[in-house]
Amino acid sequence: MIGKAEGPPISITGLGAYVPDRVLTNAELSTLVDTSDEWIMERTGIRERRIAAPEQALTDLALPAAQAALAQAGVEGKDIDLLLCATVTPDMMFPTSSALLADTLGARDAAAYDLLAGCTGFMYALAQAYGMLVGGLAKRALVVGGDILSRILDWDDRSTLVLFGDGAGAVVLEAVPEQGFLGFELGADGAGGANLWLPGSGSRIFDDGDRLVKMNGPEVFKFATRVLVSSAEAIMERCGVTIDDVDVYVPHQANKRIIDHATRKLGVPSDRVVINVDRYGNTSSGSIPLALADAAAEGRLKPGKLVLMTGMGAGLTWGSALIRWTKEMAR
Ligand code: ACO
Repeated sequence: MIGKAEGPPISITGLGAYVPDRVLTNAELSTLVDTSDEWIMERTGIRERRIAAPEQALTDLALPAAQAALAQAGVEGKDIDLLLCATVTPDMMFPTSSALLADTLGARDAAAYDLLAGCTGFMYALAQAYGMLVGGLAKRALVVGGDILSRILDWDDRSTLVLFGDGAGAVVLEAVPEQGFLGFELGADGAGGANLWLPGSGSRIFDDGDRLVKMNGPEVFKFATRVLVSSAEAIMERCGVTIDDVDVYVPHQANKRIIDHATRKLGVPSDRVVINVDRYGNTSSGSIPLALADAAAEGRLKPGKLVLMTGMGAGLTWGSALIRWTKEMAR
């Protein structure tokens, strides 16, 4: 799916993020599995990641992120009439994390549901909220992306354990006088689904029902380097912009090598790229909003800046959005 945003201008007016306190370093991981700081840094660029406390579930990470986003937008829960939560690790399958969050935030009039699109979930949710706002079905949306992947990792599998971390982010979307989203490109390829999957997590019965993440790392690497580039190029072409116009590039934070490859191929100057994978690892649905929050904290998201975001992940899925930023985000 690809589309230029031709409806009334819609933008991000609030942004928040949250990561758990517990830092898990590469050195500590090397006491759990046969790995080393040197291997992880060289192959992934990840130095450390955050891990949720045993009593924390997804909504506990999402709530402070959502509250920060609402505060920045200057609105309250009651002002939200659409709440989407992109995650592959909800508190439970039902009630949805979105419904639980809507209740806690006091969003009594909100449609609330979870959305599953692997690590691309946040990009899918942005596009869906945009469509509902433009279609007049909702006035103000809260879009949350977050995961506690540490709960579904195989803690004996060094090839996946070192890559992921826990975290969440949230944005408020609403109408603005001008600018905002320019367009979206989203895609999926189920044929590659078994390269990154969670067998035993749904209604299909597997002999090995351990419900832990399994990944073909080299295949996912090839996929990721391909789609980060092709999706970004497609949306830029559709919206009539070039890479020289992009002020801030926010790629999915899976692996520094994947980001470097995409950055090189696209021709993005390195000072325009947002990278925090070194501190958080791959936080799945939390990755892009966490990176946006970091960019905001560094003073890089200013009105008029053109921001390119591209996510990719399980499904296999990918998704890009272009947005002309409209709000000064506090440092
Ligand atoms: N520590 C030490 N050695 C390791 C580790 C580790 N943590 N993990 C794997 N190895 C070993 C392998 O066993 C292999 O050993 P062998 O040669 O004796 O068989 C060797 O390192 C090389 O393994 P490769 O898989 O070929 O290493 P590669 O350079 O491809 O790096 C990696 C592996 C980092 C997983 C890479 O393939 C990758 O980043 N893939 C993409 C993963 C990803 O981003 N997934 C998520 C994206 S989608 C989403 O966000 C959900």
